[in-house]
Amino acid sequence: GECRAVSGECRAVSVVPQQTVDRIGPSSDLTTYFSPRRYTSMDSLVEAARDALVDAYVPYSEYRVGAALRTADGTVYTGCNVENANYSNTLHAEEVAVAQAVADGHRGFDRIAVSSGVRDGVTPCGMCRQTLAEFATDDLVVVCDDGDGAVTTYTLGDLLPASISESTLTEAADDR
Ligand code: THU
Ligand code: ZN
Repeated sequence: GECRAVSGECRAVSVVPQQTVDRIGPSSDLTTYFSPRRYTSMDSLVEAARDALVDAYVPYSEYRVGAALRTADGTVYTGCNVENANYSNTLHAEEVAVAQAVADGHRGFDRIAVSSGVRDGVTPCGMCRQTLAEFATDDLVVVCDDGDGAVTTYTLGDLLPASISESTLTEAADDR
């Protein structure tokens, strides 16, 4: 298929939007652990995620998801969910975006936007969070589309505070 890289298109959005409209999540004593922020701003990475979900193959759930992943050099790869009659074979939008980027030689990501067809602020599921952690640090910015130009941003560290990494396996091997 056609490569969906969108070179250089998203450099303008490397800064988190400044206009804070609302702060959501647990009370302030917990915000160092979990600190999503909601902004009103349109972000070209969110637009790329919205474009990608148009191609979602979702005959079973009818729930479209699109993801747009920005690599360390600013290249953007997108993905959509691809369902299967054997439900658990379903590919998630974020997995497809990661696979596209890695297959094209990229192994470092700094930002991802995720959108669903109903703009409900969907976040990457637990499995996708771990998949992202393989190629990103805790400060990966995860931008979730709340619709009407609003987004909620998280860091990957917020969403997956205790990921499994290569060092998990290395340390286990040292124990043998
Ligand atoms: N889905 C994704 O594509 N990404 C996620 O991380 C959440 C779930 C898809 C899988 C399935 O096709 C649909 O959303 C409903 O779960
Ligand atoms: Zn997922």
